[in-house]
Amino acid sequence: MADTAEFIKDLCTPAFVVDIDVVRRNAETMLERFQQLGVQLRPHMKTHKTLECADIMTGGSRRCIAVSTLAEASFYADHGYDDVLYAYPLPFDKVERCARLSERLALFHVLLDNKLALQQLTRRPLQRGKVWRVWMKLDCDNGRAGVLHSTQDALQLARDISETTGVELTGIYAHCGNTYGCKGKEQITAIAQETTTNILQFMERLKAIGIQGPKSSIGSTPSCSHPVPDMAMLSEVHPGNYVFYDVQQSLIGSCRLEDIAVRVVTRVIGHYPHRNQLLVDCGWAALSQDGGGRLPTGYAIIEGHAELKLTSMTQEHGRVEPLSGALDYSQFPLGSTLYLIPHHACATAMMHQVYNVHSKGKIVNTWKVFRGW
Ligand SMILES: Cc1ncc(COP(=O)(O)O)c(C=O)c1O
Repeated sequence: MADTAEFIKDLCTPAFVVDIDVVRRNAETMLERFQQLGVQLRPHMKTHKTLECADIMTGGSRRCIAVSTLAEASFYADHGYDDVLYAYPLPFDKVERCARLSERLALFHVLLDNKLALQQLTRRPLQRGKVWRVWMKLDCDNGRAGVLHSTQDALQLARDISETTGVELTGIYAHCGNTYGCKGKEQITAIAQETTTNILQFMERLKAIGIQGPKSSIGSTPSCSHPVPDMAMLSEVHPGNYVFYDVQQSLIGSCRLEDIAVRVVTRVIGHYPHRNQLLVDCGWAALSQDGGGRLPTGYAIIEGHAELKLTSMTQEHGRVEPLSGALDYSQFPLGSTLYLIPHHACATAMMHQVYNVHSKGKIVNTWKVFRGW
């Protein structure tokens, strides 16, 4: 049920809050950055999974997005979105649903990295004169999904896709998730450069065997926050987290703390001087366990209280203690609120059904979140 509070401090807690001014600034910065580079931004929806935030990220066009679940794809299609890339290795149980979306939308794209997936598509020819639009996932040393960029197998799969009737090789998709191991801009740009070089070299190898048409796309939030000039030679980029950012991104060097748009509002529910701790009503069910409590301040940063640490959580409780010295309980009366800046916004957002959207603390909207696979 929607909360009727006027200000975020009065919300029933724990509550996920989104600063609309910061969201708009993050989205506009990314749109402008890639407009200037002459590269199409295909924002990824996985972080927020809402219609309102998608509209902000696409600048209102409702075109050209990436999603990580088919449920998201259907949700956006149902709300007038088109040019949707299901950027996840094609699951065989979902071919029929992908076929229907391909037949329904002007542009629906699937992604694959193996020949069996390609065979699955050929067993379900599309109606209405449509062809399957396929992006091949290339592993440019990220080490998750994809065919390894330097191999003959990668070239062969691209050739197989482009020679298959009823299928078009629309693009090559690499995700530089290895930027998440970086510390600082220099390391991020080094990986952005490596990934860009690898995919562009692969595109050259495709040309050499007569495959000219496919687009190229890379992008994680760190690499797209600090793009290298060569990224101007790509067709597209596909970051997603940047719209919220989080503590992890600030530690990597993708953003400043003031660029983080989201918080979990929590209330002090207990004082325990005998163990120098207080208790808050945010456990892992509202924050997630992402980060494993390894931040110097534990599972999150407590806004405005660098001296505090969220040391541990159970499902609905969080224990807070000072980094050193004795806790001054008069600063944190029972019932007062604290604002937790999450380690990983995608994980924390996933714990909530409704986002409380505010401008300078005043609630201006609530966004309903879409879930499912
Ligand atoms: C395949 C794929 N594309 C794009 C993204 C978006 O990257 P980021 O979360 O760094 O913005 C992700 C994120 O996990 C992803 O897995």
